[in-house]
Amino acid sequence: MLKINRSQRHGGFMKHNLLLAALLSSLSVGCYAADAVSGATPNHAAPGSQIKNVDAVTSASIVPQKLRISAKATGFTDSKAKKVLFVVGDPRFDQSLEGFLVNTAANFFLKKGYEVEIRDLYKIRFNPVITPENFYHAKDGFGQTPDDIKPEQALVSKADYIIFCYPNWHDSPNAITKGYMERVFSKKFAYQDTPKGLEGLLKGKGIYTIMNAGWLGGGQGNVGDGIGKLDAVWDKYLGAYKVVDDDTAGFWGAKNLGRFVNDQSPSNLNPQYQQKLQKLASVLDARLERDFFRNK
Ligand SMILES: Cc1cc2nc3c(=O)[nH]c(=O)nc-3n(C[C@H](O)[C@H](O)[C@H](O)COP(=O)(O)O)c2cc1C
Repeated sequence: MLKINRSQRHGGFMKHNLLLAALLSSLSVGCYAADAVSGATPNHAAPGSQIKNVDAVTSASIVPQKLRISAKATGFTDSKAKKVLFVVGDPRFDQSLEGFLVNTAANFFLKKGYEVEIRDLYKIRFNPVITPENFYHAKDGFGQTPDDIKPEQALVSKADYIIFCYPNWHDSPNAITKGYMERVFSKKFAYQDTPKGLEGLLKGKGIYTIMNAGWLGGGQGNVGDGIGKLDAVWDKYLGAYKVVDDDTAGFWGAKNLGRFVNDQSPSNLNPQYQQKLQKLASVLDARLERDFFRNK
C-alpha cells in the first residue's frame, strides 16, 4: 500500500515537477502571477511566455488573494495573558495553505484573549546554520549567546506555547525551522546537565506543530484523524511524528501537545475551493480546541 501510493506524495509534486521545470525554464524568475488562474491577482507573465497559470501545473497550494486571511499579532507584553509563539518557516507564507493555517490558528488564540507573536523566519532572514563558530554554544552552551539568538530565546522564555509551522519537505521540519530548533534551543537554555543526567529547562511550556503536507495517507489532524480511506497509513505516519515530537519536547522539559497535519488540501482549480478552505479552517479550530483545551 505504501509503495503504490508513494508516487502520489508531494501532492503530485514529482509528477508535475518536470512539466513545471520545463515551463518555468522559458521564464525569467518572478515574471508570473502565482494565482493567475484564480483571478485573484493579474497575470504578469512575460510577453511571449507560455505559462499563464502556474497554479494549474504546480501542486503547491496557492490560496487566491481574495480568500487569504491575516492575523494581527499582539506581540508579548508583561500581562498575565497566555502567550503563543508561532515559529513559521514558509517561503510562501503570504499565499500558501500553510500560511492560511498559521493565520487561522493565530486568530483562534487571539479570540481566546491570548497574546500572539509570529516569527516569520524567512522575513527576518533567520540564519539556521550551525557553524564552527557557534557550534559549541548550541551544543554545550559555551560562550556568549549569539546576538541573533538572544531575542528568539527571550520570546521562547515568555511563551506558554510554541507552535512550529512549516510545510512538509521530506518528512521533517524544513531547514529554516529545524535550524531555529538547533540554534535557539541550545544547551543551558533549553536543557542542562545535572548529576542525574540531562534536565529540560522549558518546564510548563507546550510544543505543537502545524504542518501542511502533500501526501501522508489522508487526514486532518493527528493520529486517529484519518478520513476513513487510508487510515492505517495515516496513523503510521502520524505515530512516527508523535514519537519524535514527544522526544524533542521531553528533551526540552516541555510537553508535546500534538500536531495538526493537513493532508486534505483542495487543488488550486477546484471549483469548491472556498467551501473546502472554510471547512479546513473549521477543522483546524476544532482540533486546536481539542488539543489545547480539552486534552489538557
Ligand atoms: C522540497 C520539498 C519536499 C517535499 N517533501 C514532501 C514529503 O516528504 N511529504 C509530503 O507529504 N509532501 C512533501 N512535499 C510537498 C509539500 O508538503 C506540499 O507541496 C506542501 O505541503 C504544500 O503546502 P504549501 O503550499 O502550504 O506549502 C514536498 C515539497 C517540497 C517543496
